[in-house]
Amino acid sequence: MQKVKVDLKKEVDSSYEITIGSEYAKEILQKLRDEGCFFMVDENIFELYGDFFTHDNMFRFRADEHNKTHESVVAVLGFLFRCNARRDSKMVITGGGITGDVGGFVAATYMRGISFIQIPTTLLSMVDSSVGGKTGINFRGSKNNVGSFAQPEHVYIDMSFLKTLTDEEYLNGVAEVIKYGAIFDADFFTYLEENKDKVLARDLETLAYVVKRCCEMKALVVQKDEKEKGDRALLNFGHTFAHAIETDSDHVVKHGFAVAAGMYLETDFAVKKGDATPETLQHMKRILTDYGFDISYEIIDKEKFFNAMLSDKKADKKGLTLALTPSIGSGKILKNIPLQSVVDYFNNL
Ligand code: GLY
Repeated sequence: MQKVKVDLKKEVDSSYEITIGSEYAKEILQKLRDEGCFFMVDENIFELYGDFFTHDNMFRFRADEHNKTHESVVAVLGFLFRCNARRDSKMVITGGGITGDVGGFVAATYMRGISFIQIPTTLLSMVDSSVGGKTGINFRGSKNNVGSFAQPEHVYIDMSFLKTLTDEEYLNGVAEVIKYGAIFDADFFTYLEENKDKVLARDLETLAYVVKRCCEMKALVVQKDEKEKGDRALLNFGHTFAHAIETDSDHVVKHGFAVAAGMYLETDFAVKKGDATPETLQHMKRILTDYGFDISYEIIDKEKFFNAMLSDKKADKKGLTLALTPSIGSGKILKNIPLQSVVDYFNNL
């Protein structure tokens, strides 16, 4: 037997920068237009910031969890094809998490992958989904279960976009912000507790710190574990239950709100199994309710709910994998959790 090694570890440098600032997106977009990029923009952003988008090669996308589908991918691929985009073309994706995930997936697959730039416009996409290279769509009722890892060439965060977010969409992102404190950084968690009013008021200075700190934490974990073989899975705190909540509610409960309830319920589950302290649960309850999140969830269809958990990417033959926070700031991954123990937990709530 002979072996040949394909040593890829250092072949491709996919490092990139995240630029964080305010009131500079228009300028960047115009520069990228002059460079001949192809644009995908969230319809809402186009309507709100029409003068930013004077581009010819532009696909306007109605971002909705129900549109995060292969049909949308085909539509955007068709746009690139019709516009004669080539292998050395570049896509610029402006919008929230759904737009970023769909657009990133298109860029990852068109001609086996073209460069792309993320310009996130929601808090959620600024602190989480635009960074780290997860791209994808929902398929056959399962969230994000078709996709690929593809890193953007650059992420430009312009916090001015946050001014026009609805309160609901803003809070949607705050849940992911709290998640970072809960799993990685107790001081940041305390900062969020102490500066709740400023965070909710979207105070620019506070936001500049919050967004930068979250991006730093995300960059660190992605650097260590780009393809989620280890510690990156910590970012899934709250997400196993959240994906079931989103599916069961037919996405009426938005991702961040589902993550908020998921973080509380997963911690409660962990306390009952002896994997987290009751004080942690109290901390989680206090911060989430102070920020205005509902931490309970009434299951509509149990079969749909538990099937969503089983078909989640985080489940394997041996059971579920949960990212938990045994104590604030110290996340931990628990594997091989039998689904039945989760079913029993929800039945006894
Ligand atoms: N949103 C979780 C991750 O990027 O890994």
